Amino acid sequence: MSHYRHHLFFCLNRREDGAACCSDHNAEGMFEYAKKTAKRLGLHGKGGDCRVNRAGCFDRCDKGPVLVVYPDAVWYTYVDEADIDEILESHLREGKVVERLKID
Ligand code: FES
Repeated sequence: MSHYRHHLFFCLNRREDGAACCSDHNAEGMFEYAKKTAKRLGLHGKGGDCRVNRAGCFDRCDKGPVLVVYPDAVWYTYVDEADIDEILESHLREGKVVERLKID
């Protein structure tokens, strides 16, 4: 069995050459928000069984910003805090994939 029930990785890659990257879409801010919210929900941190972590480029920049939830290997994009709330509450807490934010 995996140490974490769910592991959520945010791409926080920044490109300085003007090419598309997740950091162009406030990925760092959304990552911080996700971590804080996951802690508030009891998912991340002491007593929680999920983890929210930083990651580098997943080579899916054209779909960005992107995050991925393992072990399910479900990829998401997001726009704002409401999208992050929905991913945390639906997928991480209830185990239901958020189809409207899912990317192939
Ligand atoms: S910059 Fe985020 S997937 Fe490449």
